[in-house]
Amino acid sequence: MIDIETDGPADAGKTLTKAASSSSTTPSKSAAAPVAAAKSADNTVHNDKVLTTPAVRKIAKENNVNLSLVPGTGPKNRILKEDILNFVKDPSAAKSAAQSDSSSLSSSSSSSAVAAEDTRVPIRGVQRLMVKSMTASLAVPHLTYCEEIAFDAMKSLREELKHVFAKQHDVKLSYMPLLLKATSLALKQFPNLNATVNVDCTEMIYHANHNIGVAMDTPKGLIVPVVKAIQNKSILEIAQELQSLQKMANNGTLTEAHLSGGTFSLSNIGSIGGTYAVPVLVVPQVLIGAIGRLQVVPKYPHIKTSEDLSKLTAATPVPTTVMDVSWSADHRVVDGATVAKFSNLWKMYLEHPHLMIAELR
Ligand code: COA
Repeated sequence: MIDIETDGPADAGKTLTKAASSSSTTPSKSAAAPVAAAKSADNTVHNDKVLTTPAVRKIAKENNVNLSLVPGTGPKNRILKEDILNFVKDPSAAKSAAQSDSSSLSSSSSSSAVAAEDTRVPIRGVQRLMVKSMTASLAVPHLTYCEEIAFDAMKSLREELKHVFAKQHDVKLSYMPLLLKATSLALKQFPNLNATVNVDCTEMIYHANHNIGVAMDTPKGLIVPVVKAIQNKSILEIAQELQSLQKMANNGTLTEAHLSGGTFSLSNIGSIGGTYAVPVLVVPQVLIGAIGRLQVVPKYPHIKTSEDLSKLTAATPVPTTVMDVSWSADHRVVDGATVAKFSNLWKMYLEHPHLMIAELR
């Protein structure tokens, strides 16, 4: 699992080192190019049933593309990012390329496409930045800590709020704004985790603002725009800001200001898949969380681990929605017990949303 801060020119990875040495977060630029517009033949979009990722759906929505017309080249015809981008650029070329792929596949006895020769691909742009930033991150000793959150209460809260947000404010409420708010409330009690550290690890800055970077899967690759001063914002304001950042990330219109100043990071890989992931720090920040996919599992909520299970064979499991989180910390300056206490508090807010609401401004 990797996280980078930005896109930019080929040498923009330097910003990471520069930022680390100044004990502040990484200033950076987005170089993602706007995606050319393309419309489906009948202008009607029916995208729900197609196998693809949230980022692809967003691009399709923003370009008014009917995903059922886009040839998918991934496993089980999953539509990949390059498929939608090719389609948006030139719908007829994308279709014929996919057709020739599938005909060469059907004429072959092999079950997967094999290139006739090796291909050399230069590492540029976002990928190049990822090389530099991840290399810098892995110079920092990481501690990873995982926890499971019972998520039914938060799921119900979101179900109720999402209709109000959509109807009254035209805002889509996903889980992220709730997770971001819970993070900010927990950080209030752990200011040493909303922090950055200088390059020789002799000084930390505990930041006043909770500026949380959100990892986004975009057409140009992974970028981490920052939702600023979350401690002062309502869940509605966070949702509005996140929606606007997501739109800009997909259009390639994020600026350096949107990508810089992060003091903490969250990555919701669960919107794509996965249960656990080991997140990599966005240096010089000292903690990052990765959220896994919500799943329903059987639980015995009223049975304590200290009980003698042999006496409880008749106990009935309850279907429970759970969400896993994996935290990675800079182990030079943050110990495991601190991460565990922070995670317990975060868990408490998410499992008991009324406690969270009690602290909202
Ligand atoms: N488990 C299950 N479903 C989830 C989920 C999770 N953890 N997180 C989101 N979803 C669902 C949402 O509820 C939504 O479905 P719905 O509209 O039916 O309710 C759907 O997935 C799409 O959500 P999305 O529009 O992506 O919003 P989001 O606020 O949850 O996520 C981003 C926003 C930017 C985080 C997400 O789009 C993204 O890019 N995630 C990938 C981040 C990444 O690549 N991290 C790896 C770094 S190495």
